[in-house]
Amino acid sequence: MLRNPSVLVMLAISVVLLAFLIEAKPVDTSSNPCHTTNVEKKWNEGPLKHKRVIITNGTEVLNLCNFNTTEKNICLPDFEEWKSIHAAWHCQGKSVITLGQSIFHYLDKHSHSREQCDKSPSTCNWCRVGKDVEDYLNLLMDNVAELCPLFTTDQLVQTGSSAEKTNIFRASEFDHLAILKHFSQSPSDPNEIIYTGSDPVTLKYANGPVNASELLNLFRKCITEAVELVQNDVLSSPKIILGRTGVTIYFIHGGRYPLEPMKISVDLSIGVKIAQQPPVIWFMKNNSNNDVILVPQRPDAGSQWRLTYPTLERDMLLRADASVGRVYQLLKFLAALHHSKDNIEREIPRKSSLTSYVLKTCLFSYMRRNYRPEEATWYAKDALHHAVGVLGHFPLNATEMTSFFFKDRVEFNITLESKQAATEIIAMLNRINP
Ligand SMILES: *[C@@H]1O[C@H](CO)[C@@H](O)[C@H](O)[C@H]1NC(C)=O
Ligand SMILES: *[C@@H]1O[C@H](CO)[C@@H](O)[C@H](O)[C@H]1NC(C)=O
Ligand SMILES: *[C@@H]1O[C@H](CO)[C@@H](O)[C@H](O)[C@H]1NC(C)=O
Ligand SMILES: *[C@@H]1O[C@H](CO)[C@@H](O)[C@H](O)[C@H]1NC(C)=O
Ligand SMILES: *[C@@H]1O[C@H](CO)[C@@H](O)[C@H](O)[C@H]1NC(C)=O
Ligand SMILES: *[C@@H]1O[C@H](CO)[C@@H](O)[C@H](O)[C@H]1NC(C)=O
Repeated sequence: MLRNPSVLVMLAISVVLLAFLIEAKPVDTSSNPCHTTNVEKKWNEGPLKHKRVIITNGTEVLNLCNFNTTEKNICLPDFEEWKSIHAAWHCQGKSVITLGQSIFHYLDKHSHSREQCDKSPSTCNWCRVGKDVEDYLNLLMDNVAELCPLFTTDQLVQTGSSAEKTNIFRASEFDHLAILKHFSQSPSDPNEIIYTGSDPVTLKYANGPVNASELLNLFRKCITEAVELVQNDVLSSPKIILGRTGVTIYFIHGGRYPLEPMKISVDLSIGVKIAQQPPVIWFMKNNSNNDVILVPQRPDAGSQWRLTYPTLERDMLLRADASVGRVYQLLKFLAALHHSKDNIEREIPRKSSLTSYVLKTCLFSYMRRNYRPEEATWYAKDALHHAVGVLGHFPLNATEMTSFFFKDRVEFNITLESKQAATEIIAMLNRINP
């Protein structure tokens, strides 16, 4: 029967592998990720957790990883590749010669690509999921306007990493801002808003400043009711959580070849547009069409709202060369990799100690000194070098970090964890790219 020599070779290899597995099994695999090999780890993984299983009928094959991921987590794609990058990054003594290359190889597959997206948006899966979300939200806001005229929107603005085309790992987070039609900036206090509509039911808002937490609570109620009325084949199982400046809705995106079904989170904030010019940005010829928006401050800030430039932040990344966004994606990846030091699970938290906001602020500060598109572009081969430069703007010796646009606004309290992350990532980048 075994006349084919290649079958014999395979058999021999299997016997050797089996012997190796039996040999390797007793090693402690519990705590230190550096003491486990891929083979042993596979051996220890739950049999079902990340395998494809057949649900209901033979045709519907779903990946449980995508469904069982908890809200605050993200399920890593290409886990084996991530694990080998993780080992090379965190384990002393592993060679780092090809680490940079491995990271870019992973990022090329698992990050939103500006180049591809600009060239042919219809083939960009990240944009396609974004379009599904946008279509859904447009329907949702139509229903909201019917149910609660108070929240009639003038415009739905895309913000955040999906709008910047800088998201990594999976197309699973989307941010939108609903610009409310019937409110405007108060003439007596620039940080307050007033109701300008004429709905008799809501006229109680006519007299004086609008309390942000009260309005947010109402918004959540209206969204919860409106969600019931939206029929959508692609997004299902909405779960609504009240956030700081709006609501977060979690959905299951039904997938679309080659994307697998997955859990996604959609942030929907509320804001009020005001008549003011945004600041001039040195490399943008004309940004006078960018919005200046008041958004709820904090849950306990009463009627004080705060100024933001959501579309300006977005457009600074979209109008800069794609290589700039690439450096930002690299830094997000490294922040996640560092944050997962003691975690070799396939699920990692969405947020790292160096948040995207912190990284973006450092990036803008670095760009202000080093980004002059008319003089020279940023080359892809210099991405690691630029990443070190960007992290150099993290205020290691300070206790707080202020906004790029508002110098007296504290956006982030510097924690010990975030300092260690910045320091260690810089040190490692200098080892990889001496
Ligand atoms: C998925 O999550 C549900 C609910 O938490 C749990 O009952 C189920 O066992 C999980 N399935 C797997 C394969 O982990
Ligand atoms: C299996 O389920 C899917 C979706 O629920 C359905 O579209 C399909 O017709 C089902 N197939 C069979 C053979 O029942
Ligand atoms: C800048 O853009 C705005 C809106 O797009 C336009 O109205 C204005 O004319 C532009 N200004 C210049 C100097 O190009
Ligand atoms: C705003 O509303 C919240 C919740 O309803 C309430 O606790 C708070 O006292 C209000 N703040 C002001 C300044 O009215
Ligand atoms: C903090 O760091 C900045 C640059 O990173 C430097 O200019 C400044 O002198 C430092 N301040 C102190 C108190 O060390
Ligand atoms: C920073 O810490 C202070 C004091 O604990 C707190 O009042 C403030 O809200 C924090 N700021 C941020 C942006 O987390």
